[in-house]
Amino acid sequence: LESDNFLIRHLKKIKSAEIKEELTLKIKDSSSKEKTAQLMQLKEEMSKMEAEACFPLLGKEELGGILILGKKTSGKPYSKQGLELLQTLTNQAAIALDNARLHQEVKNWGKELTRKVKEKTKELRKSQAQLLQSEKLAGIGQLAAGIAHEIRNPLGIIATSLYYLNEILPKKKEDIKRHFQIMETEINRCESIINNLLEFSRKSTQEIELIDVNQLLNITLSLVEKDLFVKDIKLIKKFHHSPTIKANMDEMKQVFLNLILNATQAMPRGGKLDIATSISKNKRVKIQVADSGTGISEKHLSKIFDPFFTTKAPGEGTGLGLTLVHTIIERWEGTIQVKSQGAEGTIFTIEFPILKEEPSQEGINGPTS
Ligand SMILES: Nc1ncnc2c1ncn2[C@@H]1O[C@H](COP(=O)(O)OP(=O)(O)O)[C@@H](O)[C@H]1O
Ligand SMILES: [Mg+2]
Repeated sequence: LESDNFLIRHLKKIKSAEIKEELTLKIKDSSSKEKTAQLMQLKEEMSKMEAEACFPLLGKEELGGILILGKKTSGKPYSKQGLELLQTLTNQAAIALDNARLHQEVKNWGKELTRKVKEKTKELRKSQAQLLQSEKLAGIGQLAAGIAHEIRNPLGIIATSLYYLNEILPKKKEDIKRHFQIMETEINRCESIINNLLEFSRKSTQEIELIDVNQLLNITLSLVEKDLFVKDIKLIKKFHHSPTIKANMDEMKQVFLNLILNATQAMPRGGKLDIATSISKNKRVKIQVADSGTGISEKHLSKIFDPFFTTKAPGEGTGLGLTLVHTIIERWEGTIQVKSQGAEGTIFTIEFPILKEEPSQEGINGPTS
């Protein structure tokens, strides 16, 4: 029955049972035309349903249902006591129904509350972890800056001495030449580590530029193009038309390069490198670097942003790449998230405040290599 059904509206109003036999009597006694018409329609509605009597199930607030009584199998009319008894039963049923509904509501509230608590706890944990990470990095940054300056001087002196030694010693000896080369390479490595360390402590005094993210990604990708080809890595770009952010160009290049290099290093036997840019639902510039490489184990996930954490062989990784990435991103009010999908690879997602609002639209540049 529709809720605007005549019978339902009537039962809601009178809040008591309607019995067909009584209706017939009422019609006979009715003095006004209007009243008769109304009673006739009621009787008709009940006849349509073959109902002898209708009892409203009245809950605390509203009509919870209707109990419809058909003809007795014996064909006899219902007794007055029988009908009264039924009314009592219906009232009890209505109360039970109300209780059941309340119970369900309480249960739903409980569920909703649990969900909300869980959600908030998760948010809190995340922001705590982020805070911890930033504090850790800030501390390391200060320490690193001091040490870096101290080490730079002796390193410079060693490099100069090496230069003079190289001049003095006989050139012909292959062994000597080889060792000089090794020393030079290692000094360069130390210098790059020091430079990276200094990056953490640097305050954001550098110039700010408008950066076309796609363009910078393309420039960065061109640096590793050959590497991708040699390693049999397929590059797939999905670029939004023109995401623009405000940041320092060199720093952003470092961010992209580190993420892309990590991705290629995770795919020594080839795979797929997906680079995507888009405007997120909360109107931020979103950049995703996904690989189909080794993935990151649960155990390592919480450590990858820590300084000097590396799973790579000595000489291959410094463990500073992601630390730097994290610091730079935070400096420009961005966020970074990582999702490892086991053997399926890893997705790094970074988000930056958008410069100006642009309609969300994804342009696809398709695979390029
Ligand atoms: N795309 C990736 N796939 C798998 N592991 C990764 C990826 N990116 C980072 N990692 C893990 O995080 C560690 C830290 O990365 P990073 O800070 O760049 O240092 P490094 O590359 O010098 O080891 C890596 O040694 C590696 O274990
Ligand atoms: Mg790295």
